[in-house]
Amino acid sequence: MQGTVANPLQDLLLCEEIAELKTRRKAVMLAHYYQDGAIQELADFTGDSLKLAREAAKATSPVIVFCGVHFMAETAKILNPGKKVLLPDLEAGCSLAEACPPGELKRFQDELRAKGVKFQTVTYINSTAATKALSDWIVTSGNAREIIERVPRDHQILFTPDQHLGRYLMQETQRPFILWKGSCIVHEVFSVGDLIRLKKQYPKAIAIAHPECPQNMLEQADFVGGTEGMLKFVGTHTASTMFLVATEVNMIWQFEKRYPQHVFLPVPGIACACNACPHMAKNTLEKIRNCLRDMTPEIAWQPEFDAAQKVITRSLL
Ligand code: 13P
Ligand code: SF4
Repeated sequence: MQGTVANPLQDLLLCEEIAELKTRRKAVMLAHYYQDGAIQELADFTGDSLKLAREAAKATSPVIVFCGVHFMAETAKILNPGKKVLLPDLEAGCSLAEACPPGELKRFQDELRAKGVKFQTVTYINSTAATKALSDWIVTSGNAREIIERVPRDHQILFTPDQHLGRYLMQETQRPFILWKGSCIVHEVFSVGDLIRLKKQYPKAIAIAHPECPQNMLEQADFVGGTEGMLKFVGTHTASTMFLVATEVNMIWQFEKRYPQHVFLPVPGIACACNACPHMAKNTLEKIRNCLRDMTPEIAWQPEFDAAQKVITRSLL
C-alpha cells in the first residue's frame, strides 16, 4: 500500500476483514479510479466522479464507504441525506477544491454583477459544497459539454476552479469563459518533454491525457478525456496497442484489469512519482477497515448542503 512498507500478508488479512465488515454493516463501497488497486478490487463500484455520484444516488444500503476524496464523499452525502457516508480519512482533500474558497468566489461574482456582466457560474465537481452552493451548474469531466449547452447563449460562463479544464472546454464549445485560476497538483506536473520523448521512442503508441492537464500536454495528446472517457476510448481498440497515459498513476491498474491485451505506460511527472495523488493516497486498507469497524469518520450534514443539493441534482442526475 502507498505510504506504508508493503506487507502482502497483512494486506490480505485486511482485505478479508473489510469484506466481512462490509457485509456486517450492510455497506456499499465506492472507489474512484485513482485509488490504490487493492482498494478498487474490494469496491462494489469503481468509477469517475460522475459515475460514482450516480451510484451514490442509487445506493440502497444504509452505509456508503467512499474511497475517494472529501468533495466526492460530500457529494454522496448530499445525495443521500439519510445515510451514513464514511470517508476513511477526512483529510483526503483536493488542490482544486481548495483553490476556490466560497468567500472569494462570492466577492468575484458580486464584482461581475456590479459591472453588469451577464454570466452563469459553472463549477467542476472538484469543489466544496459551499462553492457548489454558489454555482448555477456542476460539471464533471464526463458531462461538461452537455451541461455547458444549458447555459443561455447570451450569458458568459464563469468556470471554476480548474483553469486547464476550463480552457479546454472553452476551445471545445467556442463559448467565452471567465477562468478561475485553480489547478490540480497531479495533472499540472506531467513532463511534456518526457511525453514527446516517449512518442518518438514508440511512434505507434497512442497518447491519452486528462483535461486537467495544461494546454501544452493536451496539444501532444491523441485523445483528451476524463477517466471514464479514457476507458471507453481504449475499449474501442481491439489490436494490441501501447498507450501513453497522462493521468493519475493508479488509473493504470484499472486499464490493465480491463484491457490486458494492451500496454499502458504512465507519462512521468517532472519530478519522479508526483503523478500519484497524495490526497487519494490518504485512504489505506487499514483506515477503511477502521472506519467500517468504528463507523467513523463520517460526513456530517452542513447548512450549505441544502443549496448544493439543488445544483447537484439538476446537473448530475
Ligand atoms: P474524473 O475521474 O471524473 O475524470 O476526475 C478526475 C479527478 O481528478 C478526480 O479527482
Ligand atoms: Fe484533486 Fe488532482 Fe487529486 Fe483529483 S488528482 S483529487 S483533482 S488533487
